[in-house]
Amino acid sequence: MMEKLKTRILQESSVVSSDVLRMDAIINHMVDPELTMEMGREFAARFAEQSITKVVTVESSGIPAAFTTAYVLGVPLVFARRKKTLIADPDAYCERVPSFTKGMVTDIMVSKQFLTSDDRVLFIDDIIANGDAARGLIKIIERSGAALVGMGVVVEKSFQAGGRTLRESGIRVESLVRIASLEGGEITFE
Ligand code: G4P
Ligand code: NA
Ligand code: NA
Repeated sequence: MMEKLKTRILQESSVVSSDVLRMDAIINHMVDPELTMEMGREFAARFAEQSITKVVTVESSGIPAAFTTAYVLGVPLVFARRKKTLIADPDAYCERVPSFTKGMVTDIMVSKQFLTSDDRVLFIDDIIANGDAARGLIKIIERSGAALVGMGVVVEKSFQAGGRTLRESGIRVESLVRIASLEGGEITFE
């Protein structure tokens, strides 16, 4: 799986700058269902025996891999929704997060009815960069009282601090591929 994913990244993505990789053809604009199923099988295998009750992600690009993982685990997928302007909602957990690529702030929210202290959740995300979006969802999980079993990431840009910071805070982070550098327009895997 990991070798296949690396090949697809090399063939179908392009380096935009020394810190941004365009992955529209496999993650952000088009997805390959079979490849995405393999991601789900891999995450499900790595977190088997963890009694996961829900998979969580943030819309929109996290949804395909989170969906296949939830499908293989046989549990529901909850995706945090993004709102431009947030009307205070007592029935939802909300967090404000800065977006690395879009250069703006958005609010993410999860309805209280879909995440409770009975849940053991696996957080799946497509890309981890600085981890700001991830930290927003993790705060929501904490506030709900659910247990965070770990995080599965399709592409970790390990030259940015997100993955490392989350691991340092005690969260198990499993990445399918780790990119060490995009310098000189070249994708260098770890
Ligand atoms: P994160 O590490 O927790 O993802 O947070 P960060 O604030 O660093 O990144 C915010 C957004 O930018 C995320 O998408 C993330 O996937 C995206 N991103 C960061 N680096 C790259 C990159 O090199 N390539 C691509 N293609 N995306 C990158 P998002 O705002 O959650 O939006 P969406 O894609 O889910 O709509
Ligand atoms: Na994204
Ligand atoms: Na995402």
